[in-house]
Amino acid sequence: MDVRRVTVEPASAPAYEVRVGEGVAAAFPAECTSVLGHAPGRLFAVLDDGVPEGFTGAVLDAFRAAGYAVTTHAMHATERTKSLESVGLLLTAIAEAGLERRDPVLAIGGGIVGDVAGFAASAYRRGVPVIQCPTTLLAMVDASVGGKTGVNLTVPTRDRENPDSQPALLKNMAGAFHQPAAVLADVTALGSLADRQLRAGLAECLKHGLISGDWDDPTLGAWMDSAVPAILSRENGQHRATLIECVARNVAVKARVVAADEKEKSDTGGRALLNLGHTFAHAIETIPTLSPDGDPVHAPLQHGEAVALGLVGASACAAAMGLVGTAHTERTIASVSACGLPVKVAGLPDDEALVARMRHDKKAAGGVLRLTLPTGDATAALVTDPPLEAVRLGWSAIRTG
Ligand SMILES: NC(=O)c1ccc[n+]([C@@H]2O[C@H](COP(=O)([O-])OP(=O)(O)OC[C@H]3O[C@@H](n4cnc5c(N)ncnc54)[C@H](O)[C@@H]3O)[C@@H](O)[C@H]2O)c1
Repeated sequence: MDVRRVTVEPASAPAYEVRVGEGVAAAFPAECTSVLGHAPGRLFAVLDDGVPEGFTGAVLDAFRAAGYAVTTHAMHATERTKSLESVGLLLTAIAEAGLERRDPVLAIGGGIVGDVAGFAASAYRRGVPVIQCPTTLLAMVDASVGGKTGVNLTVPTRDRENPDSQPALLKNMAGAFHQPAAVLADVTALGSLADRQLRAGLAECLKHGLISGDWDDPTLGAWMDSAVPAILSRENGQHRATLIECVARNVAVKARVVAADEKEKSDTGGRALLNLGHTFAHAIETIPTLSPDGDPVHAPLQHGEAVALGLVGASACAAAMGLVGTAHTERTIASVSACGLPVKVAGLPDDEALVARMRHDKKAAGGVLRLTLPTGDATAALVTDPPLEAVRLGWSAIRTG
């Protein structure tokens, strides 16, 4: 079995391994005792209800065989259920299961389940270990690694003029840093993932390729462009091997960024560089009517689809500021399109409303926008208070209809 191991070394938490390969999740429980440093006790598993039972069942059976008393809790993953209410339910269920301080929470699922379960693990008894078993490409290459956990907040809108305005869903507004004890990126789980979700995960890989020049892998973007056909083919022999390489290489970039700036304190970029495209994305991914192809049946946008649009918007904004040439935007559009991801979207609110939504992003400071923007082929920088005209041009680049 080809298992790739990437070590993440955060400054304020113990180092941990991301294991990437086929079958790594069911193989892990036999070694769990040595990773956690104590004998098996209870284990609380939070299960994404979209993951087939065949996969979760095999992993849980392996934990039982290793001596763990397993309690399970199913969760339906949507941005609405990524909420404080879900965390409250989880905490109560974890307490009911009698988890003690050293007993782990196991999250099997996409980024939503990983973020919610991780947040509950950070809060229960002020912190129990969490083992992340990501089952989407996006969660493998991004969400499960680096210790960010959290939920969205629903707050009354500030638009007092409009009595019909809906409460706003603010992304990832409550959370905690809680590094996992281990991450099990078992690519066999991706076999059941819908094509749309697989493509959404590629958006975060493209993002890594757009910043990786400063993180020891300047050719990641070009490699991703060459690997995308094999990843999307899902049938030839190259598919799994390319996926393993893709996950391992993307995780390695993220691991280097996290080691350098675990808590996103750097003024010169650091972890904030991973937000490339995300301030644009967060402004639109909670608008329930937006769809990647204009068909309302496919609304809302997936996180990765919003990130794909955000990468194009950020590149166009950077081009308007002279940080990159227009060729950067053309290449970004070509890479995003080759993944089958949207480069334009219909039905966006007007520029003023979008900029106001961006100011609500948690990266804004004192209402001043802070955007991560590309500065070269594989480099980016954090820009404070970018010219609004350039931001508007970013939105124009992805607006249609
Ligand atoms: N913590 C972080 O650092 C971080 C980083 C990036 C993204 N995120 C968060 O991650 C979330 C997006 O994660 P996501 O893209 O994984 O989406 P998701 O968690 O919404 O999962 C997408 C869908 O795939 C289903 N699914 C999951 N695994 C499956 C499998 N193996 N087979 C079939 N279906 C499966 C889920 O049930 C869900 O319906 C967002 O909330 C985003 O904010 C967090």
